[in-house]
Amino acid sequence: MAKAQDKKEEMVVEKEIQPKKDKNLSSEKSFLESISGIGPTTKKRLEEAGYGSKEAIALATRAQLTEISGIAEKTASILISEARARFDLGLKKGTEFETAARSRQKLTTSSKVFDELLAGGFETGSITEIAGENGCGKTQIAHQMAVNCIKYFDRDVIWIDTEGTFRFNRIVQVAQAMDLDPDSVLSRITVGRAYNSEHQMALTEEAITTVPNVGLIIVDSLMAHFRSEFAGRATLAERQQLIGKHLSFIAKQTEMLNCVGLVTNQVSAKPDALFFGDPNKPVGGNVVGHTVTTRLMIRKGKDIKRTATLTKNPELPDGKIEFAITSEGVRDFKK
Ligand code: GTP
Ligand code: MG
Repeated sequence: MAKAQDKKEEMVVEKEIQPKKDKNLSSEKSFLESISGIGPTTKKRLEEAGYGSKEAIALATRAQLTEISGIAEKTASILISEARARFDLGLKKGTEFETAARSRQKLTTSSKVFDELLAGGFETGSITEIAGENGCGKTQIAHQMAVNCIKYFDRDVIWIDTEGTFRFNRIVQVAQAMDLDPDSVLSRITVGRAYNSEHQMALTEEAITTVPNVGLIIVDSLMAHFRSEFAGRATLAERQQLIGKHLSFIAKQTEMLNCVGLVTNQVSAKPDALFFGDPNKPVGGNVVGHTVTTRLMIRKGKDIKRTATLTKNPELPDGKIEFAITSEGVRDFKK
């Protein structure tokens, strides 16, 4: 019965779907409403599947949309091409890349040597991954970068917190150390506490479509839920597919919004670890390794001392520096 109803709805949608010319196309929230033939039921289904915004649809494949009941091939094609047209995801000349590259900014880490390792700091337009063992300081770095985004970019922060480790009092300490008003800093950080991987993906998409003027998107930690929910070989392919979707969505958003993407990641022991170098590798396999543009490995030293090793960036040489995590935040390590 439900199937027959779906089929009927699919036919209606397929026949009538087309962009409406008279709607306010610049409004993020009205994208689905601006496509005639998308009724309330189809809209709800798309939203429930995580495709409520033009950003999400622009990055979707036809196969992903047609998995949703009531969405026919033609509907999916029109939705995707319309969303992409409004986002200008088409072909570009080489010169446009040059323009885009010139518009990239660097967000300082508050440590001079750390900034030098990254030729100025965390870059906008792509994802930087910070990986390392428990307590190495990944979340601490995220707190510093959140405050720095507000101070130096004067743009807001989205913080997707999967482990409940966002600490408003650390933001207060870091902000005060920089002579900022803690309340005004806190008011510019939107925190989404994600309770499972599906929630994590949905919150990320919702935050990106609702928070204006975003300069930094933090996901801390990227893999924790996925790892605990998809244990074992049997679910590995599904897990990797979902992580790929989640990360490539964030990567595209960082590019389109020209903001910094910061994901933290856990590590696991390398099975073939040698006696030198880092015995750990970030989890998440090639999907994560390929999607992040910059990869930093953090290791804990004595007391406040930490090391950061740059292991991946298309424009910078690998390198290693020492820095400190103090009560005021990230700083240079002074011997
Ligand atoms: P997991 O999320 O468990 O993987 O760890 P993480 O890498 O996110 O570690 P986190 O950033 O939470 O770092 C915790 C460590 O930061 C603590 O063990 C301390 O060493 C350091 N830390 C936290 N707060 C302070 C502080 O106020 N002063 C100083 N000096 N260090 C701090
Ligand atoms: Mg942490």
